[in-house]
Amino acid sequence: MSRTRVHNFAISLDGFGSGEPQSLEAPFGHAGQRLHEWMFATRFWGPDGATGVDDAFAQQHGAGFGAEIMGAHKFGPPGWQDDPAWRGWWGEDPPFHTPTFVLTHRPHEPLEMEGGTTFHFLDASPAEALEVAREAAGGLDVRIGGGATVVRDFLAAGLVDHAHLVVVPVVLGRGSRVWDGLEALEDTYAVESVASPSGVTHLTLTRRS
Ligand SMILES: NC(=O)c1ccc[n+]([C@@H]2O[C@H](COP(=O)([O-])OP(=O)(O)OC[C@H]3O[C@@H](n4cnc5c(N)ncnc54)[C@H](OP(=O)(O)O)[C@@H]3O)[C@@H](O)[C@H]2O)c1
Repeated sequence: MSRTRVHNFAISLDGFGSGEPQSLEAPFGHAGQRLHEWMFATRFWGPDGATGVDDAFAQQHGAGFGAEIMGAHKFGPPGWQDDPAWRGWWGEDPPFHTPTFVLTHRPHEPLEMEGGTTFHFLDASPAEALEVAREAAGGLDVRIGGGATVVRDFLAAGLVDHAHLVVVPVVLGRGSRVWDGLEALEDTYAVESVASPSGVTHLTLTRRS
């Protein structure tokens, strides 16, 4: 059975998945790279990186996925819809290697990239988008790739089977926050945590059946 999963989604202690304002120069706003330094230090990120707890979690990001769904603000800086040359942050061979569905209120024609990634642009509810992505995933799992708005919306709609979030010991104070409106999420998800020597805490949320 195809599952819907979130992996390596980094948040601050106060629950923000990015800072503000987002721009071409600062994709994570005032958060800079602070939410992802734990990941840059892993073997998952590069051959010189460390193995260990952070790497063991990070490696799950690539395993068993046939499609990704992401939000418009992960795909590009504000206004990318007005730039016909914008093809995402990741160059001609993005790291998804599957059909990738970008939720946006201003969809356009798909972009076929190298390495198996095709960006499709969808104006659809989370449930509708998941149906389309599942079909494209050919029986494999669907990753909800972020940002916080999209992760929150899919959690709120009860569409996520398993989520891995990484709590980074910084306080951002502002930005895009994942937990808002998700009161009593622990009633529907079993929440476990693992503290890493790096200082981050890995949270897993597994939907109770
Ligand atoms: N912390 C992490 O691990 C992590 C991971 C991934 C990304 N990020 C960062 O998170 C930030 C983006 O997060 P975010 O919360 O601002 O935005 P987001 O979740 O990427 O995108 C939200 C936007 O997507 C569009 N959208 C969402 N649902 C839709 C629907 N059902 N139908 C149509 N359009 C829909 C809307 O944009 P429009 O109305 O403009 O079309 C909405 O404003 C970026 O800075 C990114 O780099 C962080």
